[in-house]
Amino acid sequence: MNLLVIGTGYVGSTTAMVFAELGWKVTGLDVDAHKINQLGQGILHFYEPGLEELIRKHIQSGQMKFTTDKDKAIQENDIIFICVGTPSLPDGSADLRFVKEVAEEIGQKMNGYKLVVTKSTVPVGTQELIASWIKAAQEQQYPFDAASNPEFLREGKAVEDALNPDRIIIGTPSERAANQLKALYHSFICPVVVTSPRTAEFIKYASNAFLATKISYINELARLCDKLNVNVKEVASGIGLDPRIGPSFLQAGIGYGGSCFPKDVSALILTAKHNNIELSVLEKVMQVNQTQHSYLTDKARERLGSFSDKKIAILGLAFKPDTDDIREAPSLRIIESLLDERAQLTLYDPVAVLPNDVKYASVAVCMEVEEALQDADAVFLCTEWPTIRSIDWSKMKQVMARGNVFDGRNLLNAQHMKALGYYYQSIGSND
Ligand code: UDX
Repeated sequence: MNLLVIGTGYVGSTTAMVFAELGWKVTGLDVDAHKINQLGQGILHFYEPGLEELIRKHIQSGQMKFTTDKDKAIQENDIIFICVGTPSLPDGSADLRFVKEVAEEIGQKMNGYKLVVTKSTVPVGTQELIASWIKAAQEQQYPFDAASNPEFLREGKAVEDALNPDRIIIGTPSERAANQLKALYHSFICPVVVTSPRTAEFIKYASNAFLATKISYINELARLCDKLNVNVKEVASGIGLDPRIGPSFLQAGIGYGGSCFPKDVSALILTAKHNNIELSVLEKVMQVNQTQHSYLTDKARERLGSFSDKKIAILGLAFKPDTDDIREAPSLRIIESLLDERAQLTLYDPVAVLPNDVKYASVAVCMEVEEALQDADAVFLCTEWPTIRSIDWSKMKQVMARGNVFDGRNLLNAQHMKALGYYYQSIGSND
């Protein structure tokens, strides 16, 4: 089977790689000629461990190719995956502009039966819209099926997740479409759930919202742990042993960021509002997350008196390790609030870079941890990169001017840090 993947961002590039690995011929299509030119040479435009190597392998074997020629790509492939972005509109709802454009193009250019599958995270009911957009754009009424097949990849672990899925969700009323999709994935050993498109779309939002809920739950408990002299890391291990709860997504910290959780939680809340339903749990999840970074900056202000003219190091910018993605990164919120209060900032991240914005112009970007910590009054740990996890704090005691450590990812052992002479503040694990 020949497959077309439209949109070569994070989801599209990974999806194309997976199908090439599964032995199918895959074409990646994008409107961005520069991106396509780079991908054609095996160069990925974002940082994702292991992905570039696999894409290169499949370009060389002829299994994978990239193009900007929409008409030809749509006509040559019978199964088309839509992987374009669905950014948030100012009201928090998903912007379906790119999905609609692609659906209309498919409708206009199709030359026979097509199976059109959506991987992008889209609000419940979008599959029906896509089908109507394709139909309205068709010049000849060729048959087609539309299906939803949501993606559950984590950035930084995309290759691992994509090649070892824990489930495959197929949302379509068409038996033909379901069978084609099952055949595409036949070498994966995992449960396959065939359901309605609406349910498939809902499963994606419900998964992300549930994981975000676990994080905000433990983050809010961590604040109480600080008051009660209880260690939230031990609480998380203790409750995580209950298989009904599970150990994952219970790491307290400065909150979740990235391109999915913040956007998907607010989009689900909005969908509920449009249907006169209040998702009060998720509203609180969002509220806890929005205030989690300031929990740590408030503690730091209490300790330092004020941030004005204090030299503060920020270690870690990416919203999590193994990615250069800074969308909704809690580190950015911390940086902005410290800059508002006239702190002098140094920043270290092994991969991610600050946006080219005048508001960050005063931040001194450093290539090494030690350079960022030089003469610092305090440090905020914002991303758990290996180079940040493995800092030799006994050595850094001589490097920093004052030993104030604000650990936004609960990376360090409080007793060890205190024994080294640091003032140490984490989020719920200070004992
Ligand atoms: C998420 C989902 O995991 C994935 O299934 C979906 O397809 C896309 O959204 P991603 O955004 O790449 O993936 O990252 P994830 O590893 O889930 O982390 C999201 C955020 O939560 C990060 O900022 C991370 O630091 C934070 N997090 C995660 C915590 O604060 N505590 C945890 O215990 C886990």
